Amino acid sequence: MDQVSRRAQAIRPFVVMDVVARAKQLASEGIDVVRMEIGDPDFATPEVITRAAEQAMEDGDTGYTQSAGLPDLREAISAHYRDAYGVGVSPEDIVVTQGTSPAMLLLFGSLLDPGDEVIISDPCYPAYPNYISFLGGVPIPVRVRAEEGFRFRIEEVRAAVTERTRAIMINSPANPMGTVLGPDDLQALADLAEETGIYIASDEIYHGLQFDGRSHTILEYTDRAFVLNGFSKAYAMTGWRLGYLIAPRAFVRPAEKIQQNFFLCANHFVQVAGTTALLHAQDDVARMRETYDVRRKYLVPALRGVGLEIAAEPTGAFYVFADARRWGSDSLLLAERILEEAAVAVAPGVDFGQGGEGFLRFSYATSLERLHEGVGRLSDWASRL
Ligand SMILES: Cc1ncc(COP(=O)(O)O)c(C=O)c1O
Repeated sequence: MDQVSRRAQAIRPFVVMDVVARAKQLASEGIDVVRMEIGDPDFATPEVITRAAEQAMEDGDTGYTQSAGLPDLREAISAHYRDAYGVGVSPEDIVVTQGTSPAMLLLFGSLLDPGDEVIISDPCYPAYPNYISFLGGVPIPVRVRAEEGFRFRIEEVRAAVTERTRAIMINSPANPMGTVLGPDDLQALADLAEETGIYIASDEIYHGLQFDGRSHTILEYTDRAFVLNGFSKAYAMTGWRLGYLIAPRAFVRPAEKIQQNFFLCANHFVQVAGTTALLHAQDDVARMRETYDVRRKYLVPALRGVGLEIAAEPTGAFYVFADARRWGSDSLLLAERILEEAAVAVAPGVDFGQGGEGFLRFSYATSLERLHEGVGRLSDWASRL
């Protein structure tokens, strides 16, 4: 019997990956597709990082490391949180992983019993509810609205807390929204966590890619927090697979045991390169951020110009989440039509939850020239509607 587990069946497909596949197929047929669907930096990994990996391989850094990660890397992560945010994170409270994604498994795997609830925003990054459900937990979506900058209304979060709630998941700068939670939002969520005895799980993967002032870690506001972070976005290292979990002390050993058994460790030479990234690539991060910002300043008004509504100015990550309802309410259908008829690939908002229906996500992890081309095609397409 080809009986697939209910757990596996329950994972919702990530439709944007289908858009990617179709865009690639069109390209192989000779069609020039403008790719604005994917959250993968178009920059090469900074040279200082690649050189460090090459050197590490030459030095023979090719075996297993400690499951929790190389001490030098954990020291560098600790120093980064001290220098960037002024918070004390002990290297002992860090578990290095093969990307932020596996860190989610460590987090929810060490926190959730069957039936435990995690509050997530709707829309949000789709892996969160999938990980939570896969591990027997229950994702509880709380709506966030474009006209409010996709920030939680704290009274709605409070109303969603039950005796089964273990954590509130946050992500700032946010995928798909590109919006940022301010100090007041973080403080209010931290206060609620302390008052109710739950945790904040903060995905900080887009830190370093914020265009108006500095990012704030949840650890500035509370210790009742898990932090997920990684090197994919700010350092243009998506394919290297490196991330980490910072956990409250009681959860570190359980998370480490999951890492030991399921993954053994993150790649040795990639960990060496990640240490160099933290210590020596901050100028590169600044350079890439400036380039993203130039694109953002072009794209936001340009998309408004073709008829899309962007209520909250995106100020982080590399996404614009635009209300496309004047073109149609079914975002999947819209994304398909735009790809087939205008040769522009975008992500359908419904991929990120029902709260994203009617929206389209535009990534500006692509050159200004291609963005111009994409907007031009959208404008022609919209004028024929
Ligand atoms: C919000 C968010 N978290 C995590 C990830 C996955 O990151 P990683 O490449 O470190 O696994 C992504 C990737 O798009 C993301 O957007």
